[in-house]
Amino acid sequence: MARGIVAMIRAQALVRAEMTAVDFGCGTGLIALGLAEHVRRVIGIDSSEGMLSVLNEKLRLAGIRNMEMLRLDLEQAPAPELRVGLVVSAMTLHHLADVPAVLSKLATMLAPGGYIALADLVTEDGSFHGDMTSVQHLGFDPAWRRACCAGWDSRTCIAASRMSSNVASSSIRYFW
Ligand SMILES: C[S@@+](CC[C@H](N)C(=O)[O-])C[C@H]1O[C@@H](n2cnc3c(N)ncnc32)[C@H](O)[C@@H]1O
Repeated sequence: MARGIVAMIRAQALVRAEMTAVDFGCGTGLIALGLAEHVRRVIGIDSSEGMLSVLNEKLRLAGIRNMEMLRLDLEQAPAPELRVGLVVSAMTLHHLADVPAVLSKLATMLAPGGYIALADLVTEDGSFHGDMTSVQHLGFDPAWRRACCAGWDSRTCIAASRMSSNVASSSIRYFW
């Protein structure tokens, strides 16, 4: 799945060699590692020390030097002061209680013209997760997505000003 998501993001021409990309909810780095070979720098953000320590070991073994990690719970903490060309988040939104609030924080991390690329579950019956402990949403349907991403124009790639006054011209792409 991670390879497919990276391929879709690349197919949308959202990835440029000179850019910095953030992977929010990077986990053990399945998306971040896929991006790292195509961009200058990747910053993986995750709240789980365990996930980040597995990723750290992968980086060490593979000798990857253009990735750094930030341990942060973005539901609790303010957004880090970053201005990047691409924020990716895969399979993390359904773990968040307040998705719009976190999307607003992600938007503040974009440079003008930057993109947010999201991938997550479509609405499902709960069978995706065996253990529902950390699950807040059984996926998302298109109506929710439209409401949540109001102000973001994925068709014409216009401003995200309703999500962040700092972002002059950014847009959202979603892959679900
Ligand atoms: C299902 S994993 C997805 C990992 C990776 N993106 C992938 O596709 O393989 C969800 C990740 O989101 C992280 N996460 C959940 N809530 C978070 C939050 N509030 N702030 C930061 N990370 C969070 C979890 O620790 C976990 O690593």
